[in-house]
Amino acid sequence: MKGIVFTEFLDMVEQEFGLETLDKIISSSQLESNGVYTSVGTYDFFEMQKLIGNLSIETGIPANDLIYAYGKFFFQVLTRHHKDIFSLYSSPIEMLASVENHIHVQVRKIYPGAELPTFKIMNQKEDSLEMMYFSERSMYMFAKALMEKTFEHYHKNCYIETELIKNDGSQVKFKIYMQPHAIRPKNSNIRTSPTT
Ligand code: HEM
Repeated sequence: MKGIVFTEFLDMVEQEFGLETLDKIISSSQLESNGVYTSVGTYDFFEMQKLIGNLSIETGIPANDLIYAYGKFFFQVLTRHHKDIFSLYSSPIEMLASVENHIHVQVRKIYPGAELPTFKIMNQKEDSLEMMYFSERSMYMFAKALMEKTFEHYHKNCYIETELIKNDGSQVKFKIYMQPHAIRPKNSNIRTSPTT
């Protein structure tokens, strides 16, 4: 796993839970790296598992919820570092459908040694996308968060169904639906006069 995933994770922990919690989980995880990461380095995924597991114990928040929260946080990092990639797509469905064959292909060049999931498109329409997620790291909640944020980025709403094909989360079916954007009346505080 790339160092940037660790450095940003530690930043999120510090921001959301404070320096004391950060220090505690680093020491209880007994990491080979001692919790010292450089953004371009590559580290064992097991270290991330230990950090998340110990953060879950420390905060009482389930590990999958922490991974989901981290996905939302990491999306901001992606938009900051890779504006050019986002500007290539005009719709969230188009972008998500390109992760496997374009985006992560570029990622492999920018971040040598990146450990990435595999996505397989099962069905694609203008306003829906069905795709399978495969990864031994079982970070499907991270994927769900990135998908939701992709819609937000394009100012669209979505509804996402997940179906665990394997209980350990290493194979998950995503059904993604673009939702019509809720239209808010411009002067919602001005009431029209009753008709009766
Ligand atoms: C500008 C767009 C994107 C960039 C630059 C990017 C880059 C990356 C990087 C650097 C990693 C970490 C690799 C490692 O630690 O070795 C990663 C992992 C991941 N990415 Fe992307 N990504 C992008 C968009 C997306 C989107 C939209 C999705 C959602 C479908 C996605 C799904 C994932 C998942 C689920 C992982 C975790 C690894 C796993 O599950 O095995 N990525 N990505």
